[in-house]
Amino acid sequence: MDLLATKPLDVLMSEASETGEHSLKRALGPVNLMMLGVGAIIGAGIFVLTGAAAAQFAGPAIVFSYILAGIACVFAGLCYAEFASLIPIAGSAYTYGYATLGEIFAWIIGWDLVLEYAFGAATVASGWSSTLVAFLQDYGVSLPPRICDVHGSIWVQYQGRWSPLATVQSVLDTAHIDYHTLPNVVCIFNLIAFLAILAVTTLLVIGIKESANFNTGVVFVKLFAVLVFIGVAGAFVIKNPTVAQANWHPFLAFGWAGVIRAAGVVFFAYIGFDAVSTAAQEAKNPQRDMPIGILGSLIICTVLYILVSGLLTGVVHYDRLNIGAPVSLAIRETGRKWGSYIVNAGALAGLSTVMLVMLLGQSRVFYSMAHDGLLWKWAGEIHPKLRTPWKSTIVVGICVAFFGATIPIGDLGTLVSIGTLLAFVIVCAGIMILRKRRPDLPRPFKTPLVPLVPILGILTSLLMMVFLPLVTWIRLVVWLLIGFIIYFTYGRKHSKVQAMQKK
Ligand code: ALA
Repeated sequence: MDLLATKPLDVLMSEASETGEHSLKRALGPVNLMMLGVGAIIGAGIFVLTGAAAAQFAGPAIVFSYILAGIACVFAGLCYAEFASLIPIAGSAYTYGYATLGEIFAWIIGWDLVLEYAFGAATVASGWSSTLVAFLQDYGVSLPPRICDVHGSIWVQYQGRWSPLATVQSVLDTAHIDYHTLPNVVCIFNLIAFLAILAVTTLLVIGIKESANFNTGVVFVKLFAVLVFIGVAGAFVIKNPTVAQANWHPFLAFGWAGVIRAAGVVFFAYIGFDAVSTAAQEAKNPQRDMPIGILGSLIICTVLYILVSGLLTGVVHYDRLNIGAPVSLAIRETGRKWGSYIVNAGALAGLSTVMLVMLLGQSRVFYSMAHDGLLWKWAGEIHPKLRTPWKSTIVVGICVAFFGATIPIGDLGTLVSIGTLLAFVIVCAGIMILRKRRPDLPRPFKTPLVPLVPILGILTSLLMMVFLPLVTWIRLVVWLLIGFIIYFTYGRKHSKVQAMQKK
């Protein structure tokens, strides 16, 4: 049994060109793909994590953290773009690993991508419910907080608004208020996150075109919100240069080590551009459009993130940003209270599409793994009318709904980052290997400066991984061990590539 068996490229190419009712539907053009990327990228990271990362690790130099994390993603993005145009298959990094490093590595990446896509969607679902509560409270509507967060988490009512204790703790500490003196509840189950994932799952089962159109519409709402923030905060900074200068001082508040640590945290904000590659089998012209979708969305978001993070700390001093909705606070501070309604609506929209594209990615990766015999056959079944991998979408959706409703968000976020970074390392390595092994292949998009760019992609990803907590590493190893059990008890025995080799 050859654990390093690779999947022949001609087989992959012929699978990529399959058509008919048992294949995925080619319905997506370059704009859809780019919007899928933006849909997956802008979400909890920029709207929520930026504040805590600035307050705890980087200060105003959070903007450098965004630049660093952005550069690391561009290296990986260039490698993804080459692979996605060369091997336009729904399995993304899993398939690239199969073609270059061998089956056991493919399995590791496929299993690892669950951390990125399934756990990513669960993390964001959890953030989505808190955002929905904040959004509705702007309009005087209160949801029962007990069903808005995971079992055991505490919510308090402060100044007329319910919020998770964790997000208002620093404000309460500053005001010397003990939360026990405020109305508070212990949550039971995050029903809101659960229902949100089920709604997104339903849309994904209905159709790729429908899902992409919904995504594009909602992406415009979040882009509008981000642009409003940049406009309003930019005007504030220009009109009040002394306030901004005072807030930006000291700029490198925690030194360069802080900047790198914060880059590891805000890296989460960039996760998702690679999910575009899982839609390769649903793209009309993947050779041309995959690089546009992946790199276009990444570049748009990098520019927006640098502007938002730079302005955020100019409007509000970083030590006040360790809260649940820092961008919304900053726009209120400019005196444009209406802006916070738009920003909250944008955050809600933003997080919805992240869930959508992450679940799309997860079901496509499972579809590819099942197609190769490494997972159960049902996961690879396509609905003859809807042309979606409906069974894997539904099963993934239900599992993710449970994760999102029950696992605390803090435990999930870093796991998503480490899983994604590991996939980046393997994809970058794969580019170098394939260039050596098959220099002859026609590459519609070529990563520039190989091997420099892939090597830098690997190093920057590893650097961010090193800064993640030890417990995250332990969880990653445990997760991979669970994966090995499944592979050695099922996948290895049913692998089509292994069967092909025996013939
Ligand atoms: N990049 C996505 C977000 O920030 C995962 O929510």
